[in-house]
Amino acid sequence: MSNVRHFMTLMDFSQSELSELIQRAIQMKQQWKSGDVTQPLKQRTLAMIFEKSSTRTRVSFETGITQLGGHGLFLSPRDTQLGRGEPVEDSARVISRMVDMIMVRTFDHEQLLRFAEYSSVPVINALTDDYHPCQLLADIMTYVEYRGSIAGKTVTWVGDGNNMCQSWMNAARQFDFKLNIACPKGYEPDAALLEAVGSHAEIITDIKEASAGSDLISTDVWASMGQEEEQAVRMAAFKDYCVDAEVMACAHDDALFMHCLPAHRDEEVTAEVLEGKQSVVWDEAENRLHAQKALMETLAIHSGLIQK
Ligand code: CP
Ligand code: NVA
Repeated sequence: MSNVRHFMTLMDFSQSELSELIQRAIQMKQQWKSGDVTQPLKQRTLAMIFEKSSTRTRVSFETGITQLGGHGLFLSPRDTQLGRGEPVEDSARVISRMVDMIMVRTFDHEQLLRFAEYSSVPVINALTDDYHPCQLLADIMTYVEYRGSIAGKTVTWVGDGNNMCQSWMNAARQFDFKLNIACPKGYEPDAALLEAVGSHAEIITDIKEASAGSDLISTDVWASMGQEEEQAVRMAAFKDYCVDAEVMACAHDDALFMHCLPAHRDEEVTAEVLEGKQSVVWDEAENRLHAQKALMETLAIHSGLIQK
């Protein structure tokens, strides 16, 4: 396939392409709910490679490709040759000769880039240790549905500086808002990325200071997948980084609360905030479905698989 486009991070799309994608996701959600069904990816197959666990990502991609008229093929290292050491370059070339699009959830971001380099069809990053761009499509879509444009707003990220934080940093740049990052010392995002993002992101170590005047507060687990052995050390390091009612009170009265889920109540967020009036976490999870349908359609159009 010529001109094949991948989605490794939010930086793979232009600002206008991202805005169009969010609008298309909102439209696709409305159309689906009103029974207006179009199937642009009829008879197409999405391979879904999961090297880490998932609930939302698997359900939303598999349901999404079904709603678009296609088929989702779940592949895990446990029962494919991926788990027995077949090189990523070989797997990518073989799988991409048979399917129309590939979604990958893995550990090392470099491995994902290598997979994409050898794939002849679009590859989607469904989470690496460094980025989770699909989640940000759903998060921005959710903000837009509730409050309109996020441009010029202030978002506070609370917690680890890894995949979710780094995706929020790219989002700040691409959707033009300010990101305050409240993370413990030693758990900051990548320094080169922080520099690239420039004035769009700032580390403010104190959680309340970082949340002051914010329009949206978002957080994530203290120990990500693959960091299970660091759990005890992280519990101590992150103990002052729980989003509770006092933290929410520092933000604007109409501030939203988001969490990519799964959540640990009374660790990174209190049950009161997670289940509270400002929390939009269930809409955020639902929107993974529609945002990814828009993403798959967009990649199929840009790669010449289907006509607009
Ligand atoms: N938020 C998210 O990606 O959830 P899963 O790990 O359940 O897919
Ligand atoms: N930071 C989390 C996100 C899960 C969706 C992880 O990597 O496990």
